[in-house]
Amino acid sequence: MKTMNALTIDHVSLSFDDFRAVDDVSFSVKTGEFITLLGPSGCGKTTLLKLIGGFYQPDSGKILIDGSDVTKVPPERRDTTMCFQSYALFPHLTVAENIVFGLKQKKIRKDVRDERLREVARQVALETQLSKLPSMLSGGQQQRVALARAMAMRSGIILFDEPLSNLDAKLRDQVRFEMLQLQKSHGFTAIYVTHDQSEALAMSDTIIVLNRGRIEQIGTPDEIYKKPKNRFIADFIGTANIFEARIAEKIDGRRYIVETSMGRFAAESENPPQSDKLFVCWRPEDAVLTNTPRGENDFVSHVEVSVYQGNKTDLLVRMPEGHAPTFRIQTAGTVRHADGARVSFHIPAGCVKFLEATS
Ligand SMILES: Nc1ncnc2c1ncn2[C@@H]1O[C@H](COP(=O)(O)OP(=O)(O)O)[C@@H](O)[C@H]1O
Ligand SMILES: [Mg+2]
Repeated sequence: MKTMNALTIDHVSLSFDDFRAVDDVSFSVKTGEFITLLGPSGCGKTTLLKLIGGFYQPDSGKILIDGSDVTKVPPERRDTTMCFQSYALFPHLTVAENIVFGLKQKKIRKDVRDERLREVARQVALETQLSKLPSMLSGGQQQRVALARAMAMRSGIILFDEPLSNLDAKLRDQVRFEMLQLQKSHGFTAIYVTHDQSEALAMSDTIIVLNRGRIEQIGTPDEIYKKPKNRFIADFIGTANIFEARIAEKIDGRRYIVETSMGRFAAESENPPQSDKLFVCWRPEDAVLTNTPRGENDFVSHVEVSVYQGNKTDLLVRMPEGHAPTFRIQTAGTVRHADGARVSFHIPAGCVKFLEATS
């Protein structure tokens, strides 16, 4: 049985002149795992992907693929293939020629190439499109050609650099599902780069959040969303109401009373707050709209803006005193809220998270 890690990044750093684009990054990826490097533009995602693919050499640290040190191995001799966005297709080559391009470069025999072409074309459902030029295909089909081309190389690891960024929202949603199905059935290991948090949450087994060349947090989508480690992550992923806080009282091992600009909160946390410079956060959907006070974390606010979304409504609200910042709450269902309306809500203490103040 194969239990080895497909990829290990061991204290890898790379600078461009004085600028550290990748700063002491370490993580491992299991065979068949879908892992996403998520972070804002310029945080070092592409640089890290190119290090994994062998297009850059790290200044320090090691890269292992299937347990062997490949730090100095050139791209064509690594078990990795890069998959870019659809516009990386050759416009003057047919779909079939695009798909086998890398195999030809590797001097793979024609009968083997034809065999691979048939196989991957079937897997991405492009059998009937093979003689067309890319420009004759839809954006989603072009993306599948790029994926087929990468899959034809039979690498254990496929490196994706924002592959869906050129597709419109609806198509992106559809191709997301298709890619994920293919990855699961094909079993390749995927290292996927995106700045789009919803894409990362939707697709990944594991998310690695990067900021300024460093890892901020590694976790499942659920862990990253529900237990953001610090302010940067809470802010970057999903929508969060974040308040500067002071501990007013420690009730017992897990329960605290904190003072914020929004008022006093009871907070329950598995992890005690790490510093005096403290922030707390809760998500808009944590708010429970109710007219029955629960005895703690009961708030009355006024609606500033109400954004109707069909299955839910997003509210921007303000505390009556007016001095607190506005914040977001979300209500399930389709009740309309007029601007200025009073809304009473409750935040369960377990939903109030302590954040480290970093970044
Ligand atoms: N070849 C290069 N030479 C100099 N600086 C670079 C080079 N490639 C990237 N950078 C810088 O390194 C940082 C990270 O870039 P990149 O990895 O492309 O970020 P991301 O893909 O997350 O948007 C950026 O500030 C970028 O300007
Ligand atoms: Mg990039």
